[in-house]
Amino acid sequence: MTAEMGTDLRAHWDERYRSGQTPWDTGITPPEVQRFWTDAELPRPGAYALDIGCGSGLNTLFLARQGLCAIGVDLSGRALMLAHRRLRASVSDDSLPQTGKAVFVQADVSRLPVGPIGAVYALDIGCLHSLPDARRPLYARGIWRALCPGGYYHVYAFDRDKISAGSSNARGMDDGEVAALFGDALQIVTEERGIPSERSRSSSVRQSRWYLLQKR
Ligand SMILES: C[S@@+](CC[C@H](N)C(=O)[O-])C[C@H]1O[C@@H](n2cnc3c(N)ncnc32)[C@H](O)[C@@H]1O
Repeated sequence: MTAEMGTDLRAHWDERYRSGQTPWDTGITPPEVQRFWTDAELPRPGAYALDIGCGSGLNTLFLARQGLCAIGVDLSGRALMLAHRRLRASVSDDSLPQTGKAVFVQADVSRLPVGPIGAVYALDIGCLHSLPDARRPLYARGIWRALCPGGYYHVYAFDRDKISAGSSNARGMDDGEVAALFGDALQIVTEERGIPSERSRSSSVRQSRWYLLQKR
């Protein structure tokens, strides 16, 4: 991605947040993520988790409430302003436990600004599928590097939609693309059809999937 493309993308996402065109911002952490953490073993205190393309930070704070040190990464300054506001509100109403922590970083997720931090979990809801195809391998390498062996990568993505192919956002994922991106490094544990939320059911709904992968 050239610097110009990056600026265009940032402007696009900033404008979505500025104008309130954020149908994904439902205020509810998806049941698929809640279920994962209900079933998961408790993470070791202070273990890292990533929220990739964290938007207004709802799910980053959900991860912090699981006792994780959650790092939310997003390109959009507008989104991160909302995320910081949400964080301040949860600190003042005491809904963040002492053990959990949330921080937000403005960065392009295809140049993830973290090294091998031994993250136990990385979540991506609706970011990977919007990345230009050429950036996806770099993104995948960043996720692989950040995770510990046995760490999980949980992603929600639209299927590639033939009609919108070539448009600049939410390009979607081809069949088998998630598995191919990570090759032997991460294995697919589950792949399930996404269920549209109540709020998005009214608009035209694209096919989507939840993928859970684990680093070998
Ligand atoms: C559909 S929204 C989902 C936000 C959040 N995951 C949620 O569920 O509320 C996609 C997010 O990815 C961010 N994003 C898109 N491309 C990005 C990139 N290359 N680097 C960092 N963030 C990006 C956008 O700014 C936006 O906040």
